[in-house]
Amino acid sequence: MDSTQVDPETFWDERYGESDAIWSGHVNVALADVVVERELEVGTALDLGCGEGADALWLAQHGWRTTGLDISVVAVQRAQAAAKAQGFSAAQARFEAADLMSWNSDQKFDLITASFLQSPVQFDRTQALHVAQDLVAPGGRLLVISHASFPPWAKDHHEDADHEAKHETTTPESELELLQLDERRWSVEIAELRSREITAPDGKLASLDDTVILARRTGWD
Ligand SMILES: C[S@@+](CC[C@H](N)C(=O)[O-])C[C@H]1O[C@@H](n2cnc3c(N)ncnc32)[C@H](O)[C@@H]1O
Repeated sequence: MDSTQVDPETFWDERYGESDAIWSGHVNVALADVVVERELEVGTALDLGCGEGADALWLAQHGWRTTGLDISVVAVQRAQAAAKAQGFSAAQARFEAADLMSWNSDQKFDLITASFLQSPVQFDRTQALHVAQDLVAPGGRLLVISHASFPPWAKDHHEDADHEAKHETTTPESELELLQLDERRWSVEIAELRSREITAPDGKLASLDDTVILARRTGWD
């Protein structure tokens, strides 16, 4: 079937329904590294496409008042259960099922994160990340982490056999091109590839590249 005809909510609910947890439950390394090394001041955070909530919960553990959004009700329920199990109140960690294609907010956030907000089915990533830019508070930051490469064995992560659809890989240049950050309003603090170690199914260590963009909102109309 043509991937553009697959309902994204159904696709992602089914994907999450394949097992009790499809992600590791650990924060994405690049997100934790950037927040710590840049000593980002704690405030409000929004995680787009939060999945099972690991990034948002890590932020909450570090004092951020976090909101996580995802189109998959299955993923959001897992994130909510994890937040409850970790003792967070709704003010500390809140998760909501929402389609970023039709979502917006009156609230501004000190940090908006989008980790691997990439989908093999219908999803306008450019639109989602442009809406997000308007929701960053003055002085706040946008952190976008994306797949610059995929491990060869992770076929199901980047290619869905039924839909013959693929995630696109990114580069720092392609991400800056997509974001079109207005230099009168934004200062790009990081635009680079970062490598991380992963374990292959055969137990061997392998290296994978992520594209990392951190931009600060410096101007406001
Ligand atoms: C590759 S996963 C990344 C999940 C998580 N950020 C992580 O790093 O583990 C992409 C996520 O985007 C979500 N997503 C896809 N399309 C979406 C949409 N239109 N609105 C909101 N979330 C969406 C999916 O449900 C999925 O959880």
